[in-house]
Amino acid sequence: CNVVVLISGSGSNLQAMIDSLAAGDTPARISAVISNRADAYGLTRAAQAGIPTAVLDHKGFADREAFDSALIQAIDAYAPNLVILAGFMRILTPGFVRHYQGRLLNIHPSLLPKYKGLDTHTRVLEAGDAEHGCSVHFVTEELDGGALVVQAVTAVTPGDTAQSLAMRVHQLEHRIYPLAMRWFAEGRLQLDGDSAMLDGVPL
Ligand code: GRF
Repeated sequence: CNVVVLISGSGSNLQAMIDSLAAGDTPARISAVISNRADAYGLTRAAQAGIPTAVLDHKGFADREAFDSALIQAIDAYAPNLVILAGFMRILTPGFVRHYQGRLLNIHPSLLPKYKGLDTHTRVLEAGDAEHGCSVHFVTEELDGGALVVQAVTAVTPGDTAQSLAMRVHQLEHRIYPLAMRWFAEGRLQLDGDSAMLDGVPL
């Protein structure tokens, strides 16, 4: 399975995938890492792993459509079977999402459908929720919508802060995102209409 990963920042999820691929039991290869920010630390992680990188700065484009069509070109140069959003902080156009329908995954730091958008950890604390976590999902045109693939849960404890939650949720992300990539690479995970299927069974 040929994978392209899109990032904007630290790339700790990218690192988790690089590490899990190094273990050798996932039939996938990351053929490129593309960032919209030249200063994303994930680009350094990719270079250290010998993965080609590209930067496509959204500020150089007139509008979202122009940026997304250039992004499609940059991605499709690698002919990926799977495109992974790993902290890619741009809202994608419907045309982009349709182009990669069924082969575009995202991770979000909440138990979707709760807390779409930003500041999820603070919102969980303000709501007094007993549980928090993260979700891998197929991307559809609705922001942080789309068929759920896998979630991981952590209990919220009285001493928790947004920082402590962010740290725990990140650790969970590093476990479930490589897992979802592995399922997809093994041909076990598909998008069928509105639902994700694992081994032919709706998730
Ligand atoms: C993660 O919290 C992820 O859920 C969100 O962006 C962040 C990326 O972190 N979509 P990193 O760059 O992988 O460290």
